[in-house]
Amino acid sequence: MARTDAEIIGRDDVNDLDAILAMTNSEIDEAVHVVQDNADAIFTWDYERSRPALVKLYEKAKTSQWNGETDLPWDTEVDPARDVAASPMTPTVAGIDALGLDLSGTALASWTDAEWMAWAVQRQNWTLSQFMHGEQGALICTAKIVETVPWIDAKYYAATQVMDEARHVEVFAKYLDTKLEGHYPINQHLKMLLDDIINDSRWDMTYLGMQVMVEGLALAAFGMAHQTTQDPLLKQLLRYVMSDEARHVAFGVLSLKEFYAELTEAELLDRQEFAFEAAVRMRDRFLQQEVWERMGVPVKDAIRVFKQDDPELKNQDPFQQLLFSKIVPNCKKLGLLDANDGWLRKRFDTLGVTQFEDWVDTGEEYELLDEVAKDRATA
Ligand SMILES: [Fe+2]
Ligand SMILES: [Fe+2]
Repeated sequence: MARTDAEIIGRDDVNDLDAILAMTNSEIDEAVHVVQDNADAIFTWDYERSRPALVKLYEKAKTSQWNGETDLPWDTEVDPARDVAASPMTPTVAGIDALGLDLSGTALASWTDAEWMAWAVQRQNWTLSQFMHGEQGALICTAKIVETVPWIDAKYYAATQVMDEARHVEVFAKYLDTKLEGHYPINQHLKMLLDDIINDSRWDMTYLGMQVMVEGLALAAFGMAHQTTQDPLLKQLLRYVMSDEARHVAFGVLSLKEFYAELTEAELLDRQEFAFEAAVRMRDRFLQQEVWERMGVPVKDAIRVFKQDDPELKNQDPFQQLLFSKIVPNCKKLGLLDANDGWLRKRFDTLGVTQFEDWVDTGEEYELLDEVAKDRATA
């Protein structure tokens, strides 16, 4: 029997705005954050290289290392206001008017283009800050996978990912600290998700939470940020990070495909519930509460203006939905959409993201990219 939504995510109604907004990070002043990882370190005495797909990925990872310090143009002069001013994603008063949004009775009614621009600068900083915190989550998760996964080929590959993630944290931190004005604390929804992933004792749950859900979303989010940023340094930084992330998601899908084929329906249900929880936490953070707070606008006013509280429209934001475009096909490939009479498919329906199920999954996508690269090399 599946657990109830209240048991899985701590509230009865997935879309309960008051409950979502009540979750805030009350520990922003703490210097360290301690999480129990509840796991056994596993030695294996079977050194045979029996998983060719992982062997291939490991070889690829070894030759794809880059140096965040020397391979990026850090001498680029970055002007965040100029960057957002040139971005098609930055709202203007005229643009908001054209959308017919009702700002009456809110602080937004008196905003000029300058305030929208300041907001867009904050949103960019907040987004990159959450990327950075998520990258540290990935660093810790992959170090844990090195210890807990029982297969030698997976331990080897995961070790390369630890290095990749260290580099990702390093470059986002450097960009935020030297090119922008510092960073935002971790968003509570993201923090709860990372804590739950690290807390789980089962090795495959680290993969499912991190490689499939968090990194699946990151791959789509980095792609979007890469397309919209006008800053050449950030563009290149994101391109480098994305080339690693595609491999990481492929690692998750390849490993779990093998493991999940052996699980019972009851065991799969646990995984489906976890995937649903992760999807809800990631969606909840899109409200970007902290950005509105910093701009002095009550979050609920902003949510009303942008109709994020409208049950008909709330899950139809194309930008938000696209972020799930990697996760849903990957869950399908792993058998998680269909197990237990399609339990997860029905839950994803409530989030409005099931339409992505037949998009290319990252295992396949990675193979395709690899083929294209080989063709280029031999052409
Ligand atoms: Fe990463
Ligand atoms: Fe990653």
